[in-house]
Amino acid sequence: MAEPPASLSGQDVGSFAYLTIKDRIPQILTKAIDTLHRHKSEFFEKHGEISSIFLQKGMEAEKKAISLLSKLRNELQTDKPIIPLVEKFADTDIWNQYLEHQQSLVSESDGKPRWFYSPWLFVECYMYRRIHEAVIQSPPIDDFDVFKESKEQNFFESQESIIALGTHLQELLKTIEDLDENNLKNEFFKLLQISLWGNKCDLSLSSGNTSSQKTNIINSLEQFKPFILVNDMEHLWSLLSNRKKTRGKGTVSRVDIVLDNSGFELVTDFILADFLLSSKLATEVHFYGKTIPWFVSDTTIHDFNWLIEQVKHSNHKHLSKCGVDWENYIKMGRWVYHDHIFWTLPHEFCAMSQVAPDLYAELQKAHLILFKGDLNYRKLTGDRKWEFTIPFRQALNGFHPAPLCSIRTLKAEIQVGLQPGQGEQLTASDPSWLTTGKYGVFQFDGPL
Ligand code: F6P
Ligand code: MG
Repeated sequence: MAEPPASLSGQDVGSFAYLTIKDRIPQILTKAIDTLHRHKSEFFEKHGEISSIFLQKGMEAEKKAISLLSKLRNELQTDKPIIPLVEKFADTDIWNQYLEHQQSLVSESDGKPRWFYSPWLFVECYMYRRIHEAVIQSPPIDDFDVFKESKEQNFFESQESIIALGTHLQELLKTIEDLDENNLKNEFFKLLQISLWGNKCDLSLSSGNTSSQKTNIINSLEQFKPFILVNDMEHLWSLLSNRKKTRGKGTVSRVDIVLDNSGFELVTDFILADFLLSSKLATEVHFYGKTIPWFVSDTTIHDFNWLIEQVKHSNHKHLSKCGVDWENYIKMGRWVYHDHIFWTLPHEFCAMSQVAPDLYAELQKAHLILFKGDLNYRKLTGDRKWEFTIPFRQALNGFHPAPLCSIRTLKAEIQVGLQPGQGEQLTASDPSWLTTGKYGVFQFDGPL
């Protein structure tokens, strides 16, 4: 097979990658610094009392984290060489090896990878990893999530829409046993689309500013349909409904969801996962989150548990019923949460079988894997300058742990598997179609 094309990078002045490195990433860093400033009192009270020693320790930690982040912002804005990580953590060696590999690829005289001259995927991931390094180097605030506040705000601001979804699900569950094939399929498609458009609500595109779902998304599905550029929902239905019909009693049907953003999007994923179990299209759902704060709004185990608690304690009866059910699914092992450092490494997914064979083997147990969001799409396709018409399978470059589907709104200049002329037509009618999150795909890759 021919070599994959070059990576997207900040070298291409005016590209979305360039603008991200130049403007959006520094804004995210500035916001993280502001957050640390504003949370001073919380750090001081961490140990339950404000003694002068703790006060001093907290102040020092805050100062240290802020100075490390300011240094990072300066390195980025002046396009300094990318430096190795220093603080020992589970993934430090893998990161530094990756950096060395990048160094070996650089042709410039000093042989050092720089922010604007390295693959965009690498530098963007590296930036979030460096934020984490600044925090873990600053005890006692070493478990502070600088993005937690924004994630929680996104959840609270989307309340009305979340209540509408919870109500929809509970109403649906009352009659789900009596639904015929066609109605069940329609409901499945509806919840898939809700989960797709839920991906509009990521906070890194908006540089950490609020991006919540204020209207009832269920009412907008018809209107959004023309913006689905690749629609493989039928494949998902065939795969799961055929398995439901043919599997023997007591056999597992497992759907894995590689999560993206917390807040509203995570609610849409939970609603879909609940439906999968309730409709018996699946018997188990496995979720994968991030081990460290990532791309502002990505889900960590803390966000996962926090959200279920919030839903459970909602004053709204339908919503709190959802929370109670979701907690039970976890207790019964029908919903399983997995952590793995691979998800916060800069590697493309085609490297997973080498870099994280245990994770690859875990994913192979699924009957279907849903990859949520834009960053997962970039990693599936290697974040490369593929032509729009290249088949999805080719861009996956050998990554096939199980049948998989990307559920993604477009927020980066990459899209494969389009019809001839489709990309050009979109560029003519809507020049920013690749990067605003207005368009979406359900892109499936099944067995050969
Ligand atoms: O540039 C937009 C961006 O920050 C991309 O870097 C990243 O791919 C995406 O947003 C994150 O979106 P999502 O939450 O859908 O992965
Ligand atoms: Mg995200």
